[in-house]
Amino acid sequence: MIDLFSKFDPLIEQRETLLETGLTDPFNLVMEKVESPTVAICNGNRTILLGTYNYMGMTFDPDVVAAGKQALDEFGSGTTGSRVLNGTYAGHKACEQALKDFYAMDHAMVFSTGYQANLGVISTIAGKDDYIILDIDSHASIYDGCALGNAQIVPFRHNDVDALEKRLKRLPPEAGKLVVLEGVYSMLGDVAPLKEMVRVSKENGAMVLVDEAHSMGFIGEHGRGVAEAQGVIDDVDFIIGTFSKSVGTVGGFCVSNHPKFEILRLVCRPYVFTASLPPSVVATAATSIRKLMDSADKRAHLWENSKRLHAGLRQLGFTLGTDEPQSAIIAVIMPDLETGAAMWEALLHEGLYVNLARPPATPAGMTLLRCSLCALHSEDQVGEILGMFAAAGRATNCIS
Ligand SMILES: Cc1ncc(COP(=O)(O)O)c(C=O)c1O
Repeated sequence: MIDLFSKFDPLIEQRETLLETGLTDPFNLVMEKVESPTVAICNGNRTILLGTYNYMGMTFDPDVVAAGKQALDEFGSGTTGSRVLNGTYAGHKACEQALKDFYAMDHAMVFSTGYQANLGVISTIAGKDDYIILDIDSHASIYDGCALGNAQIVPFRHNDVDALEKRLKRLPPEAGKLVVLEGVYSMLGDVAPLKEMVRVSKENGAMVLVDEAHSMGFIGEHGRGVAEAQGVIDDVDFIIGTFSKSVGTVGGFCVSNHPKFEILRLVCRPYVFTASLPPSVVATAATSIRKLMDSADKRAHLWENSKRLHAGLRQLGFTLGTDEPQSAIIAVIMPDLETGAAMWEALLHEGLYVNLARPPATPAGMTLLRCSLCALHSEDQVGEILGMFAAAGRATNCIS
């Protein structure tokens, strides 16, 4: 018998070598208690959370929590069925209406996760003989959507408008083309030049899908994302998003003005062949989305937090993923996995949780300490965070 697990041996060995040094496993942390969107108890210690996607701090919003409890009481714990059979409740329609209102778009389709939204929409709309042109640093769910479908895949260099244009011009003019972009790329926290990319895509006859997972709620005047901020939202054919970040629960969606959009409900396998979200989840999502429409003050405070942390980390001597703060994500670049893991652990001892990110999730083989800010981090907390980075950085010789 050939052991099918032998392909994982190099990863098992790397992990064992790292843990033999006595390091806490960075990928097995337990949140013993979560006190608020910014504080949890980990290993018995009060820990500031700087590695969640809770950008707008909605997880403990009293209206959101109350809506979830009410739906749980009135509709039960789950739907036990697909959206196309018994799994569409009034709450799912209300959630889709909230999305249509939020984006001012004609159609909205809620999936069970953002991963499934990308998987479903990309694999369904780009078929055999079509082309998907995508940024090479695209999220795994975008690549998996490509793998599930039958289209030809054409990657281009990250955020490079000329590279995108060259690829598009080489493709047969009569072929169907879908350009897939993200508003904010979650590893380095950098923003896509959507204005130019959408223009180039349209000039070359392509439809455009933008995944705004890391920008919804925060970026753009109404929090609709980078496409809104750069004035091209009306030219984008499909926006993909998730409830697992700014919305503060779980679920995914696609919004669009395409007149034939609704047919996707019958042909999109990751929508049809899975159970729909529980009533409590869609109720919390709908309430949160409606509150996000009216959150300009929180957006402004989150930008302040992002600028303060970026400037402070830079002043301490850390190398960051972007020259300027572009989103709520600030990536601290580590020289290697061992140093990154040591720094991650030192921060945890100080009382700070960040994400340790490593290949294959990261671009160019980088090890990153990814910091993601929340609109509910106070000015004092950002000060505390910088103090912890200073102490951990010196203890691990990352800074002098
Ligand atoms: C860009 C992007 N798209 C999609 C997803 C998937 O979202 P979900 O957590 O809802 O599956 C993520 C999650 O990390 C993401 O970063």
